[in-house]
Amino acid sequence: MRSSRFLASAFLLGLAVFTNCTKKTTSSGAKPGEEIVGEQLLAGADLTKARTNYTNYCGGCHGRDLETFVNRKWQHGDSPEALFKGIKHGYPNQGMPAYATTFTDQEIQHLVSYIREGIVAQRGKPEAKANVNTSRSEKLSFQLDTVLTGLDVPWAMAFLPNGDMLVTERGGTLYRFTKDRQLQKVAGTPEVLAQGQGGLLDVKLHPNFAKNNLVFLSYSAVKKDGGQTLSTTALMRARLDGNTLADQKVIFEAQPWARTRHHYGSRIEFGRDGYLYFTMGDRGGTKINPQNLGVHAGKTHRIKEDGSIPADNPFVKQADALPSIYTFGNRNAQGMAVNPATGDLWLHEHGPKGGDEVNIVKKGANYGWAEVTHGIDYNGSIISDLKQKEGITDPIKIWVPSIAPSGMAFVTGGRYKGWEGSLLVGSLSFKFLSRLEVDGNKIVREERLLQDIGRIRDVRVSPDGYVYVAVEKPGAIYRLVPVSQ
Ligand code: HEC
Repeated sequence: MRSSRFLASAFLLGLAVFTNCTKKTTSSGAKPGEEIVGEQLLAGADLTKARTNYTNYCGGCHGRDLETFVNRKWQHGDSPEALFKGIKHGYPNQGMPAYATTFTDQEIQHLVSYIREGIVAQRGKPEAKANVNTSRSEKLSFQLDTVLTGLDVPWAMAFLPNGDMLVTERGGTLYRFTKDRQLQKVAGTPEVLAQGQGGLLDVKLHPNFAKNNLVFLSYSAVKKDGGQTLSTTALMRARLDGNTLADQKVIFEAQPWARTRHHYGSRIEFGRDGYLYFTMGDRGGTKINPQNLGVHAGKTHRIKEDGSIPADNPFVKQADALPSIYTFGNRNAQGMAVNPATGDLWLHEHGPKGGDEVNIVKKGANYGWAEVTHGIDYNGSIISDLKQKEGITDPIKIWVPSIAPSGMAFVTGGRYKGWEGSLLVGSLSFKFLSRLEVDGNKIVREERLLQDIGRIRDVRVSPDGYVYVAVEKPGAIYRLVPVSQ
């Protein structure tokens, strides 16, 4: 029998060198139906693997250093059998997920030993705190479930009907993340210019995906022109066939192609009318693009799923205007969602230094960029003295200073008591999740959650009603699990 002091220091050493490991669990050695519940001392490879699994799957909610287990009043007893059962089958009503499909029985057994040995090791440590990973909102408490780590810049998430998730990486890869947490590459993605803010950007399922398997991708397309490399925002439609995109069709290419590498816009959303709306940034052409109906940049667009133009678009009869334009005077919008209470499309857009906005998307409306703004240029110079002007639609919310909003979702599905109907918006620069309480067409209150979680690039609500956030550099996806008090 090893001395407990040796065991303790081995654990503390191990706990101190936790890394952001991305290893995925491989299922091996489990004999079906055989539940191993005896206890064993962990060493070597088994210890390393258990620690990695704990870090990747459990640490987000239970504390990287086992904080919620040390000095715990066990609800289901602290026997190896009780822990094993809890991990395998979960306590879904309390927010404890089941891991029966994630781990083999032996891996669960090793987790049990890891926790039980770790608690003994941790007891001597004065700073061990309970429940450090429970976050409190004004309305409810929740825990962070680390769903996926090891990415660079996950830009968007889309939930497939079978429980898998599609994830874009800005670098150009489309992943399928299976419900048993395997990360698989999807082939057939478009060539992208992964420079600056560009790359593979949004992913959206067709509203009738269950029948037609169609997905839509937005990205920065690239072409050579003389000695120059130009890019623009483009949209591809394709059929997801296993892990391959088939029948790819480029349904939109924004004009003009530009040498800049920023303000690609790119959020895609289907309206209640069944048409595809997407945002197009100004590509840096502040004074020339957003108010010019002859270019696509600095607008939102409305098209049919094959790229053709709905006959009732606002500018179809105007000779000098591009027919896909639905609104103009937009700067760079990276969040768009249908408000379930009203059916309206809402978006937010990046302001310059100050002046990020939430806008309700109205047919033919001018949102004013760059004739009016609540912000100033990044270098401090004045872009416009005006904050309002005749004929320009006011935002319903502004952020000064800018939070750099990205990703947008309305909370639906009834899982989050007190949050239902709230609008969630990620902040890239201040690294929090903004929860905005909505009353009709007004935003009446803001609460800032997940302070310092990282640059939030996307936020979505899954079909089973959970909030997911995607964070950049290091790229990770988290799920917010409400905890009953
Ligand atoms: C999404 C958050 C979340 C994740 C991820 C999670 N748990 Fe839990 N777990 C909970 C909650 C909530 C409970 C219920 C008790 C509580 O409130 O702490 C719980 C309970 C438990 C219990 C029973 C505790 C008792 O008092 O009887 C065990 C054992 C446990 N978890 C182990 C694990 C292990 C091992 C992992 C990783 C494989 C894991 N959990 C992952 C949230 C989580």
